[in-house]
Amino acid sequence: MHPDFSLKDHTILLTGAAGLFGRGIASALAGTGATLIIASRNADNIQLVADEETARGHHVFAEILDQGNELSVLSLRSRIEERHGCIHGLVNNSVLRPMKGANGTVAQWEESMRVNATGVMLMHRVFGKSMADAGRGSIVNIGSIQGVIGPSYELYEGTTMGDLPPDYFFHKGGMLNLTRFYAALYGPHAVRVNYLSPGGFYNNQPESFVKRFSEHTMLNRMADDRDLGGAVVFLLSDASRYITGANLPVDGGYTAK
Ligand SMILES: NC(=O)c1ccc[n+]([C@@H]2O[C@H](COP(=O)([O-])OP(=O)(O)OC[C@H]3O[C@@H](n4cnc5c(N)ncnc54)[C@H](O)[C@@H]3O)[C@@H](O)[C@H]2O)c1
Repeated sequence: MHPDFSLKDHTILLTGAAGLFGRGIASALAGTGATLIIASRNADNIQLVADEETARGHHVFAEILDQGNELSVLSLRSRIEERHGCIHGLVNNSVLRPMKGANGTVAQWEESMRVNATGVMLMHRVFGKSMADAGRGSIVNIGSIQGVIGPSYELYEGTTMGDLPPDYFFHKGGMLNLTRFYAALYGPHAVRVNYLSPGGFYNNQPESFVKRFSEHTMLNRMADDRDLGGAVVFLLSDASRYITGANLPVDGGYTAK
């Protein structure tokens, strides 16, 4: 491997590691030899991931985090810095999906914003500041193609999946410009901030949806748990040392046509 791609001797924090995309990102990062801290709300789920990776000889530690709670974010930083020192990289992958459709409640919208807007900002503020003080670091935000384009309702015809929630389009779009905000703020301190926009993850959706979605990509398939890891490693490593404020689509060409 070219040395610039190495994350050895790096400490990386990944949120939401037990989820669909998160589990694959955790495997990719653990396999680099980095010290990986995985943080999420559900202690059992996250510990299971840490145990599986530890059994493979990797250095993975589970921590509890509610990213929508400032005290929880601050407390996580204190615990990590006590045990491992200042992190070198952060992957904001967690997402909460309380809103189930266009007419979801205001309470669901507000719960979504607490975690997906306020929480994401706090992760940048708290961990980004530590990395800026250390004079190095990289933040990778897991966004979505739904943060850069509007809904394609025709994909969902004939399924029960077509009632899309507005909060997701709002906070994933916001995350993209927040990426640029923090890239500019932390850039002089050699902390880079980038955004990945993945396409839809194959999760046993109805066949008609999978077919239409796949045909809309250039690679003729939906994403799986191996698709994000390489791009995340690249953006965390020195191989991408002059890339910041960028949106890297990882969508099989979905948004290119
Ligand atoms: N699934 C897809 O098709 C898809 C497509 C494009 C982009 N994405 C993006 O990929 C990322 C992961 O999505 P996924 O589908 O794998 O998600 P998921 O729902 O499978 O997992 C989300 C994770 O976030 C964690 N989480 C939720 N609330 C939290 C909180 N308050 N504090 C800390 N952790 C919390 C959950 O515990 C869970 O581990 C998200 O940012 C999502 O927007 C997903």
